[in-house]
Amino acid sequence: MSASEFLRKEHEEIMRLEKLVTKCSKSLYDGKDVPFSHIDKINFLIAEFLDSIHFTREEGSYFPCVASYDHLNQEIRALLIEHEFSRNIAKQISENLKQWKKGLNKREPVARFLRTYSIFLIDHMKKEEQFFEKAEKEILSKEEEQEMLEQFQSISAIAEKVTSLLEDIDYLEEQDWAK
Ligand SMILES: [Fe+2]
Ligand SMILES: [Fe+2]
Repeated sequence: MSASEFLRKEHEEIMRLEKLVTKCSKSLYDGKDVPFSHIDKINFLIAEFLDSIHFTREEGSYFPCVASYDHLNQEIRALLIEHEFSRNIAKQISENLKQWKKGLNKREPVARFLRTYSIFLIDHMKKEEQFFEKAEKEILSKEEEQEMLEQFQSISAIAEKVTSLLEDIDYLEEQDWAK
């Protein structure tokens, strides 16, 4: 496996989260019951799996390595802006959820921002996969791919964290509103 393949594989797991986000949004629009604790879990997965784990691999290792060749700069800038966009939507979801818990009727905005998030995710990952392909073919050496992969796999605390996040995804996939 290479670092590019590793990130692509991680996208596959993230797509499972995307499906949950879509289902959750749809269920809310349909007036179905989705416990607050489940929406909290989705928020937690976005914050942990995407923001602190996956984006960190891209922003901390993969993008800088590609950028060191002074290549694909434009693409990297665009992807970084999208990561900021992701953080903003996530904030909107959690702020509206907080108010909903306090008794304000925020079902619609929560449903809407979840929907926005799923549209963002699908689009972002598609763009990024085209970017990985270019980086893989035109820029990164075998050694660099290997080195980054080792970096990704070296911290066992992160691997354990991912395992537990995937269990959270399993759990949510079992819920009625998610079927
Ligand atoms: Fe990304
Ligand atoms: Fe990504």
